[in-house]
Amino acid sequence: MSSLQGRTVVLAVTGSVAAYKAVEVARLLKKRRARVIPVLTRSGERFVGAVTLSGITGEAVRRDMWDPSYPGELHVALADAADAILVVPATADFLARLAEGRADDLLAALTLSAKGPVLVAPSMHPRMWAHPATQRNVRTLDADGRVTFVGPEHGEVASGDIGLGRMAEPEAIVQALEAALAPRDLTGMRVVVTAGPTHEPIDPVRFLGNTSSGKMGFAIARAAAERGADVTIVAGPTAEHAPPGIARVDVRTALEMQAALDARVGVDVTDADVVIMAAAVADFRVAEPATRKIKKRPDEEAPALELVKNPDLLAGLGARRASRGAVLVGFALETGTDDEVIAYAKAKLASKRVDAIVANHAGDALGTDHSRVAFVTAHGAEWLPGASKAKLAGEIMALATKLLRART
Ligand code: CTP
Repeated sequence: MSSLQGRTVVLAVTGSVAAYKAVEVARLLKKRRARVIPVLTRSGERFVGAVTLSGITGEAVRRDMWDPSYPGELHVALADAADAILVVPATADFLARLAEGRADDLLAALTLSAKGPVLVAPSMHPRMWAHPATQRNVRTLDADGRVTFVGPEHGEVASGDIGLGRMAEPEAIVQALEAALAPRDLTGMRVVVTAGPTHEPIDPVRFLGNTSSGKMGFAIARAAAERGADVTIVAGPTAEHAPPGIARVDVRTALEMQAALDARVGVDVTDADVVIMAAAVADFRVAEPATRKIKKRPDEEAPALELVKNPDLLAGLGARRASRGAVLVGFALETGTDDEVIAYAKAKLASKRVDAIVANHAGDALGTDHSRVAFVTAHGAEWLPGASKAKLAGEIMALATKLLRART
């Protein structure tokens, strides 16, 4: 369930070409069942129609502090009603007024009276964003700690120029808002997540690996951090970035991952509260990797690689976990029918002695942004509708939280 469901969001639009994307943001917020109150500044009105915003949100568009149809102080009433304020797009002028603490229009007065999070998605020409005055305002707002910036991003802007100033995409803006409103019910909990593939060396330049991107594990780490957990990600080689606040340990091989995990979770797995093994750990490694690059020689056959088994890290945790040890969640990447996938996952749940297995089809999951998974626990199996990895990560953390509560 989205943290936006049933929440009230003021969606304010200031005057930039990216204002057309605010319409998409409104639609995404409505899809997540938020109540959306649109606010337009005078320049925002030039870029997007009030009828479009009120049509999508089902609410009257607010524009004026002196709205004759509203008897009281409209800015305070809106600030009271809003669980969050989202400014999409936020112009250089709006940031300047915000940094100065002005209250010269409805939006400025409303953000000054905000009681919940205020998120701004800047959008402007890269030269405007880079200008020392804009950067000074951004630093002031950062230091005040009352607004969260979403973007801007590097890319093409309306003029066709390329640089930093392009507004973040609607989905990313809505996800940032979801994060800001997520319940912080894992505060004080220690969550360890593994992610990505492992690379098992053949020689100094070659390795055995797999196509895991690490996206799922990083999305889970983010979802855990959003709920307030103290998160460590143990990552194999991946291009993913950990957001600030998440401790990251980079490893290459399965044995390095095992050592990093052991150091974090302790002998009987009681130094962590939840461990989620999303890494695609290589099952085999080369028995003796060559210390020098293997050369091909015209007169010799291809070399044979002797493989040995890697330890099963998750099964190792399951076997040595004390009764008060961490909740363990594993993944199962399988091929076959839905029923076969569930049957394999159930077998893994038992053999690895874990609390839950997140099962998916190999073809659905690897390297993509979307996936379809089933949760398999001692209570049964359930397929979830296909969704983005970010959304599934939220569901997986909800499941882990439920399992943690059931034990304490
Ligand atoms: N796993 C692990 N250590 C390994 C292999 C896998 O900890 N050496 C973990 C994975 O992180 C995942 C779960 O075990 O959470 C399932 O891994 P998977 O590769 O699907 O299953 P296997 O146990 O390797 O079984 P099989 O290859 O027979 O499907």
